[in-house]
Amino acid sequence: MIVDTLSTFPGMYESVMGTSMMRIAQEKGALEFHAHDLRDWTHDRHRTTDDEPYGGGQGLVMKCEPIFEAYDSIASAGPKPYTLFLTPTGEPFNQGLAQELSEKPRLLFICGHYEGIDERAYSLADCCISLGDYVLTSGELASMVVIDAVARLLPGVLGDEGSAVDESFYDGLLEYPQYTRPSTFRGMEVPPVLLSGNHAAIDRWRREQSIERTARLRPDLIEESNLSQQDRDFLKSLHSR
Ligand SMILES: C[S@@+](CC[C@H](N)C(=O)[O-])C[C@H]1O[C@@H](n2cnc3c(N)ncnc32)[C@H](O)[C@@H]1O
Repeated sequence: MIVDTLSTFPGMYESVMGTSMMRIAQEKGALEFHAHDLRDWTHDRHRTTDDEPYGGGQGLVMKCEPIFEAYDSIASAGPKPYTLFLTPTGEPFNQGLAQELSEKPRLLFICGHYEGIDERAYSLADCCISLGDYVLTSGELASMVVIDAVARLLPGVLGDEGSAVDESFYDGLLEYPQYTRPSTFRGMEVPPVLLSGNHAAIDRWRREQSIERTARLRPDLIEESNLSQQDRDFLKSLHSR
């Protein structure tokens, strides 16, 4: 997959994209990453990317001309990118959307700053994404969250040990509790079933823990999750406890 970003602070990507899973994804050839500087498509001495809002008001708005010029130039090199804007007014980001995006050959993230972006630039959008109901200073951080969630789903990026299949949201449930050595720490014991060596019992315990935890912490998710009859019976038994 090719991932391009367009923003006013491309240097923000250096550390995150050069570390851990994002670095591995690039080393394995699963991800090709380019951070573009929007200022490269300005034509004035000050490399201006923003201006005062029409109608008055506080702050500055990102101009649409450099964004369109940058888009034309980036999109013309290689496959047409699926173009995403990061904005608090977008669709809430979740694992399902990460999965959908991981199947695209090329993504282009357009990041806002200041008070936001001239509305006309959104005509380039295939999708607008919000990370949540809060306001960040700029879109770079938000895009890195999305790129990370997508990159770890690309074939070959996670080894068997780090498979995404067991993780929260994969099947609509939160992940079960995990433990490692020692088996007793400050009086807290690891659940005995995990030390039993009985893999069927461990699988069932993990499934039930996932269901119990999701029902308790995220009842909105349990409604949508893919439960078997055995899972449903377990869920019912929780209600009668
Ligand atoms: C200070 S914010 C602009 C907020 C805008 N004035 C509003 O009230 O919706 C600047 C940029 O940060 C990014 N951003 C802020 N919050 C975000 C969120 N919750 N999800 C995704 N991007 C966000 C967007 O790219 C946005 O254009």
